[in-house]
Amino acid sequence: MPDVNNEDVAELKIGEKTVKLPIIRGSEAEVGIDIRTLRKETGCITYDPGFVNTGCCKSDITFIDGEEGILRYRGYDINDLADKCQFIDVAYLLVHGKLPNKKKHQAFSSHLNNHSMIHEDMRHFFDNYPDHAHPMATLSAMAVSLSSFYPELESSRKENVDFKVTRLLSKMRTAAAFSYNKSIGHPIVQPRHDLTYCENFLNMMFWTPVNDYKPDPVCAKALNKLLILHADHEQNCSASVVKMVGSSGANLYASISAGICALWGPLHGGANQHVIEMLERIIKKDKGDVKKVIERAKDKNNSFRLMGVGHRVYKSYDPRAKVAKQMCKDVLDQMGLKDPLVDLAQELEEAVMADDYFQSRSLYPNIDFYTGLTYRAMGIPTDMFTVMFAIGRIPGWIAQWLEMHEDPHGRIGRPRQIYTGPTQREIG
Ligand code: ACO
Repeated sequence: MPDVNNEDVAELKIGEKTVKLPIIRGSEAEVGIDIRTLRKETGCITYDPGFVNTGCCKSDITFIDGEEGILRYRGYDINDLADKCQFIDVAYLLVHGKLPNKKKHQAFSSHLNNHSMIHEDMRHFFDNYPDHAHPMATLSAMAVSLSSFYPELESSRKENVDFKVTRLLSKMRTAAAFSYNKSIGHPIVQPRHDLTYCENFLNMMFWTPVNDYKPDPVCAKALNKLLILHADHEQNCSASVVKMVGSSGANLYASISAGICALWGPLHGGANQHVIEMLERIIKKDKGDVKKVIERAKDKNNSFRLMGVGHRVYKSYDPRAKVAKQMCKDVLDQMGLKDPLVDLAQELEEAVMADDYFQSRSLYPNIDFYTGLTYRAMGIPTDMFTVMFAIGRIPGWIAQWLEMHEDPHGRIGRPRQIYTGPTQREIG
């Protein structure tokens, strides 16, 4: 943390003018310079591509220390939450600020159950998507469609929050499983009241009239952990998109739909799918030659990047990747599986950790490096990986969206720019 000698103002000299800018401190000793009056006082704006140095809000939800590899939701360490909690309790924690007691847990759980079906008219949407439609496209369309099926709950802010949360959490999980059923030409499987949140998802994915699938407890436990790891990550790309859309007054469903699209990209949540595709290519095309792949990733004339490596905030090992790595190993062991892609991933990780290019840039495996491998062991197909991430991230997006609406300093998101195009000119 910077040594600011407990001063409460920073001074900025621009030409002859010195402006005093208040300093804001967070509960974990983070320091920010409040530049809200900068343009008014000096005519200048800040220039910060990718918002790397820009704090867009104060938040009580998630704390990350990227240097120390710490992640906490509402003060609780990610390792503890992943070990001891159910995903739906973590969802409740993110949205309401505290873990539910037994009574609240049961009420939330039955609420999720009651809202798990999808309106029949909406279900027919699935008939008209092409078989090869990416499930992220379907999921995003389903999220925004909820606002036309449930317009009475469209309004922003706190009212009906439990309905919105349960609708989104429960129906998005059902929609995700339906989109998978559709993509393989299987009949859809309806949710069941007697299964937990994670068991229900697995059952909707894998039960068929000719396979009386019983959710595997190892898979249900792993899914629970994975969803917790994904549940929030403060002001990342998709959460910022959710808030940007919501800041215009758009409803929660529309905002979440936009967040799903942002998450889809390969530099964000889409990386878990791209990790598997990269590992498969290394085996097929590079004959497993890790050295060659490392050299390609380091080559400045080649746009190739190692998927699942590097992070905007973590400059040490991603704490979620640590949990995911161990879980991947446990799932494979407990299911008695061997996967050559896991061996290759480990070899790649060792090469990254031993190479000065990656170490000098603080590039370590991120959450996506091992989560896809775990989903694969559970039988979840590759193009569903980012969907799994989205299901996990929904509570975080909702919590961030609600917090933004309660912020007395909240304003419509509208960054500025430094114009560098032609000055005024005439036509002809
Ligand atoms: N492989 C090779 N080089 C890399 C990688 C990588 N995966 N990631 C970053 N670098 C290099 C860059 O080329 C750059 O090198 P330079 O300083 O010589 O120019 C340096 O490291 C810094 O990279 P930036 O792009 O400036 O880092 P940024 O913070 O903007 O990007 C990002 C972070 C997008 C995650 C990046 O590391 C990346 O593309 N990783 C691969 C995709 C991925 O795994 N995304 C998932 C992230 S986790 C999540 O969103 C859930």
